Amino acid sequence: MIPGNGLFVTATDTGVGKTVVTAGLVRSLRKKGFRIGVMKPMQSGHLRTDPEGDGMRLKNWTESQTPIDRIVPYSWSLPVAPGLAAYLAGESVDIDWLLQEIHMMVQINDGLLIEGAGGWLVPIGNGWTIADFAAAIGWPTLVVARPGLGTVNHTALTVAAIRQRGLSVTGVVINGSKPEDPSPDLPYNAQLIEEVADVPVLGTIPWLGDTWSPKELEETILSHLNLTPILHLWNRKEEIAHDHLGTSDPTSS
Ligand SMILES: Nc1ncnc2c1ncn2[C@@H]1O[C@H](COP(=O)(O)OP(=O)(O)OP(=O)(O)O)[C@@H](O)[C@H]1O
Ligand SMILES: [Mg+2]
Repeated sequence: MIPGNGLFVTATDTGVGKTVVTAGLVRSLRKKGFRIGVMKPMQSGHLRTDPEGDGMRLKNWTESQTPIDRIVPYSWSLPVAPGLAAYLAGESVDIDWLLQEIHMMVQINDGLLIEGAGGWLVPIGNGWTIADFAAAIGWPTLVVARPGLGTVNHTALTVAAIRQRGLSVTGVVINGSKPEDPSPDLPYNAQLIEEVADVPVLGTIPWLGDTWSPKELEETILSHLNLTPILHLWNRKEEIAHDHLGTSDPTSS
């Protein structure tokens, strides 16, 4: 396990909202006094300097001063799983080197958020998957899930697969709920995920529309997610007390 305060962000599928949630969490945790770093170790679909790619989005949305090649050590232009993108480019991922980069990044921060790629069993080359990579890092995980029908099953399967690798799941974030969506399961899915997967749901982030600002994302995360399990993980008791006062126990001041 890499020493330091880290969190590995995965999801039930690609396109569920890892980048948006990770960027929002970096900003929100910073607001609570942490110096937070962010990485997307393997990015496919966009080269690292492409502003539409996850790395540049994470860098811009979090206003990070870290050079992009530290945030995104590997990138490929093909929009396929990292293992296949690397293979088709005639390359392979050097896991030991990646682990060293992560080690360096976590050392210089109070906390480091790592965005995976796609879902939990996405191939990254040489028979490895994101699960193997996350297990080599050894950090607790956060699962980003869809709001709608199918999410209880997908989330519970992902949580079970993570625990099978001996890693903990700090919580689930449901991302992209649309208040106008009439689907009758929506108000129940968070509770059903907690029951079926036995995991805390930190909250539900609404769909912010086509245009939103990083500040708006930060405010949405701070008002819709319970960050206490993450703060607890990183053992900042002072901040946890503050978070409790701010969100769940207005009578105890
Ligand atoms: N809550 C939201 N409100 C508005 N737009 C969102 C929200 N969540 C995600 N999006 C948009 O949906 C798309 C997919 O989200 P995102 O890129 O975060 O998914 P991802 O899980 O990181 O995907 P990948 O597997 O490619 O890394 C992006 O265009 C993103 O800006
Ligand atoms: Mg992403």
